[in-house]
Amino acid sequence: MTSHEVLATELTRARDRTLRLVDFDDAEVRRQYDPLMSPLVWDLAHIGQQEEFWLLRGGDPTRPGLLSPQVNELYDAFVHSRASRVDLPLLPPTDARAYCETVRGKTLDALGALPDGHPDAFTFGMVISHENQHDETMLQALSLRTGAPLLDRGAALPAGRSGVAGTSVLVPGGEFVLGVDALTEPFSLDNERPAHVVDIPAFRIGRVPVSNREWREFIDDGGYGQRRWWSEQGWAHRQQAGLTAPLFWSGDGTRTRFGHVEDIPDDEPVQHITYFEAEAYAAWAGARLPTEMEWEKACAWDPAAGSRRRYPWGASEPTTDVANLGGDALRPAPVGAYPASASAYGAEQMLGDVWEWTTSALRPWPGFTPMIYDRYSQPFFEGVATGDYRVLRGGSWAVAASILRPSFRNWDHPIRRQIFSGVRLAWDV
Ligand SMILES: [Fe+2]
Repeated sequence: MTSHEVLATELTRARDRTLRLVDFDDAEVRRQYDPLMSPLVWDLAHIGQQEEFWLLRGGDPTRPGLLSPQVNELYDAFVHSRASRVDLPLLPPTDARAYCETVRGKTLDALGALPDGHPDAFTFGMVISHENQHDETMLQALSLRTGAPLLDRGAALPAGRSGVAGTSVLVPGGEFVLGVDALTEPFSLDNERPAHVVDIPAFRIGRVPVSNREWREFIDDGGYGQRRWWSEQGWAHRQQAGLTAPLFWSGDGTRTRFGHVEDIPDDEPVQHITYFEAEAYAAWAGARLPTEMEWEKACAWDPAAGSRRRYPWGASEPTTDVANLGGDALRPAPVGAYPASASAYGAEQMLGDVWEWTTSALRPWPGFTPMIYDRYSQPFFEGVATGDYRVLRGGSWAVAASILRPSFRNWDHPIRRQIFSGVRLAWDV
């Protein structure tokens, strides 16, 4: 396939997914499930609005678009907080769908007219990433929805294997290449670039993420009630928010997942935890959280070859044999489910399943240059951002395979846990 055919396929794949996530009646897609999240219909029209802005209006706000300036502004994420979007005079669902469809027709025409190898192909990839990232956001919203389930229990996943939970792998100290370049990863986003050499001391990292069974031991040992495991900020938040278990867990050994009440699976990676809980768990376990540099080295560096792998397991694209991605499973896969996913150091399930909290604030790599969407990363950098953000790595089960790379960086506030967040431990050696 040419790169244009790949982009057209990924645009269509993302759109099919988006439309499945809003395939409900009008009242449903207008609902706000939680003040943390937008109504689904906002995400839908915002996906179209951003696609039009970057691909059809060249990122130039003075160029006229299909929406009036007043309507267009409703979908500016920097103007309207998530909590307030339900009260805006949003496009009705039918109009939002029609708008997205019109934009998409023009987008495909623009793609067809783009000369092969044109630098604007990057912007198409950026828009594909944006739509898929919103699809994950919509899944977060749907996970907060109360009432009878709208979604089924999700696609089948491979079984886990015993003997891997709680084990770790050694990553010897030394130099490696952190980040990527446009040449090797043309669709990498600005904060993943440029590639540069970093030297970090040896460490150990969990072979797999922490499981629900392990997390249960922390609860049973009184971990949530013991100040000594928590940072000062973490303890204050634990007290104020009344945290006693991961989000969606009940006291009776069950959890609610997209409206389904079910037994908490022992071997699944724990998800829906804040950074502060991850930090407390790590302290209780005699470990710590990894930095994002450590995480990326364990994921992507091949010490024998002296170079990065495109994926932890090698050069081949992700398949269901190596990672749980794409959103169909609606949950993480059990630990040990993907032995073929092992990185050069032996770390498994680095991509997919759960986003993994790291101790790192979002910082630009040396030589950072903003991309056309120059507010994607910059407003969230340490020293610029007004709030506190921590980097999460590796993607969750809800991330599209085509947008994920070992260098991909996500970030959120340390108190957030409606995200599909989990934890992998690290240790000094
Ligand atoms: Fe957005």
